[in-house]
Amino acid sequence: MSDKDRSDVRMRGVRSFVLRAGRATAGQERALAQLWPKYGIEYSAALLDLHALFGRAAPRMLEIGFGAGEALLEFAAAHPEIDCIGVEVHRPGVGRLLLGAEAANLRNLRVICHDAVEVLQQQLAPGCIDLVHIFFPDPWPKKRHHKRRLIQPPFVELLATAIAAGGTLRLATDWEPYAQHMREVIDASPAFANVATDTGFVARSAERALTRFERRGQRLGHGVRDLEYRRAG
Ligand SMILES: C[S@@+](CC[C@H](N)C(=O)[O-])C[C@H]1O[C@@H](n2cnc3c(N)ncnc32)[C@H](O)[C@@H]1O
Repeated sequence: MSDKDRSDVRMRGVRSFVLRAGRATAGQERALAQLWPKYGIEYSAALLDLHALFGRAAPRMLEIGFGAGEALLEFAAAHPEIDCIGVEVHRPGVGRLLLGAEAANLRNLRVICHDAVEVLQQQLAPGCIDLVHIFFPDPWPKKRHHKRRLIQPPFVELLATAIAAGGTLRLATDWEPYAQHMREVIDASPAFANVATDTGFVARSAERALTRFERRGQRLGHGVRDLEYRRAG
């Protein structure tokens, strides 16, 4: 059994999300119908040819769980030289992203509306991504729900497979116990080196756009932790 098959077995059945009931607005539904052919990548259990999809060879970033897409849209607009892929399960969020992509006329952005675990397992070839962003993943604060947290050893193995040697993994959370959990799990992986020198956390990057989710955390008085890792090898 390969490493990939093993993480498949361990992660099957426990999802990091519960699909929220929120409906897409009429504008988002229109975007999902009209703009999906331009920006959308259908999920299928086959490796993607990203070179063909973007029509060029360029560095690639992946944002997992982009929510309403603020950070991803800003990053893609600021980095036309980087091809960006967003993965999100919440359809209204995908609709918002499509509207933003069209308004900014972004050519370097594509979106997949599916569970990122399966996207990493099935669609992304080893080493095809240079940078991964995971900002404010659901913290699942109750102990009985901790198994739902996205950042778990098998998921970190999947990230390690997708990210090229020398690539970067950036995370942020406003839930301190999850920040500590992220450090424990990712610091323990031989595939990743923590970039922080002292506390284990890095300063907030000026490039990380403030999202609605982070604003909500600020209103609740939550502090934010940023983490950055380099893919070893
Ligand atoms: C707490 S929200 C944060 C959204 C955004 N990153 C922000 O900072 O505003 C977490 C998001 O991750 C998405 N998500 C959770 N698990 C996911 C998975 N396995 N695959 C794709 N998206 C996922 C959820 O639908 C949700 O939109």
